[in-house]
Amino acid sequence: MSGKAVIRGDVSVPGDKSISHRAVLIAALAARTSRVRGFLHAEDTLRSVAMMRALGARVEVVHPDELRVEGPGLRDLAEPSDVIDAGNSGTTIRIGSGILAAQPFLSVVTGDPYLRRRPMGRVIRPLTQMGATIWGRAGDTLPPLCIRGGSLSGIRYEMPVASAQVKSALLLAGLFASSPVTVVEPLRTRDHTERMLSSMGAKITREGNAVTVEPADRLDPVDLTVPGDISSAAFFMVLAAVRRGSSLTVRGVGVNPFRTGLVEVLRRMGADIRYAGERFSGGEPAADILVRGEELTATRVDPGEVPGMIDEVPALCVAAAFASGRTEIRGAEELRVKESDRIGAMVSALSTLGVACGEYPDGLWVEGPARIHPTGPCDSQGDHRIAMSLLVLGKASGESVEVNDIACINTSFPGFKEMLEGLSD
Ligand code: S3P
Repeated sequence: MSGKAVIRGDVSVPGDKSISHRAVLIAALAARTSRVRGFLHAEDTLRSVAMMRALGARVEVVHPDELRVEGPGLRDLAEPSDVIDAGNSGTTIRIGSGILAAQPFLSVVTGDPYLRRRPMGRVIRPLTQMGATIWGRAGDTLPPLCIRGGSLSGIRYEMPVASAQVKSALLLAGLFASSPVTVVEPLRTRDHTERMLSSMGAKITREGNAVTVEPADRLDPVDLTVPGDISSAAFFMVLAAVRRGSSLTVRGVGVNPFRTGLVEVLRRMGADIRYAGERFSGGEPAADILVRGEELTATRVDPGEVPGMIDEVPALCVAAAFASGRTEIRGAEELRVKESDRIGAMVSALSTLGVACGEYPDGLWVEGPARIHPTGPCDSQGDHRIAMSLLVLGKASGESVEVNDIACINTSFPGFKEMLEGLSD
């Protein structure tokens, strides 16, 4: 292993992206005024703001991280006068489709070239079964989507893939349906939508892996503070975890139990990670996360663990490059259809850096501890989480790792590079 970066410090990360999206999408369905503090002011979440404005909601950015949202009410959204651009945001287009599918008007949603390659059949199929008419490119599987919404009926839907976005789209559509909607998850995924809808007066019940929403007449407004994003904290957790002697606190992070898979895996690899000041923020558990670095050992991540760390696998690959032995991650085929093919992107970048690694159709392996010796620049493939993981690898190794196309970081974490560069021993 090369370099020697012992990290000490105390950082706070921006608001949770998933919760920020939901806060604006769902608050805009309540008739009265909601307040959202700790909102992630980033390219992705602003796409959801723009979508709800296009549907007639008033969304005022009081401060960059504080919104005042006033919706027209559950049944009074307006037909958008133009195409809605979801940019790079899968959450905006997929969860938003659940709302649009229930509206008695036409909406067209597109996105950037990366989003236009991502599968939408997973939301189109069940929403069509409920009664919406949705067209998309490539046989109704890719954006742009053309949605003619209308009266929906309830369904019981067994999701073929574990996806919080699909589940959330169906639960939101269910608010408008004529009978309850039940979604059955193959593996449990983040439950931010369920928590938020319950806090706004919707009737949500859960039985094992099945969650049901009852049709609703109205939603109450919310006043919430979004906790810090554990998916953003992950980069700093890994940075501190991989070097014995490092010690870092990330303050005020959301620790929803369906998001903390990386914490569990890093602990298993030998990192000392503790929570302090546990509290609730915006109906979600939150804590300060204290990380002490240790010599890490490789581990195996099984399919059942993947949904709890779906966005953290690139960061885990960085930890794996510093751990002794071969880390293997399986059951992660969903990573191939994220903002990039994250399996291919990480294997390609790690190979450029001299790290022994390889891919499976459903995952990858990484051998450590590696000697980082870059043979050229690495490509983020326009994916924010790949870009941030590689910058962390550079910082942790002390080697100069060049990453192409890091502007994509602004989709989820403006200011990341400066925060990373500001950390030292
Ligand atoms: C998200 C769910 C996950 C995750 C994405 C955000 C959400 O996607 O990867 O970054 O906010 O619900 P899937 O639902 O496709 O797994």
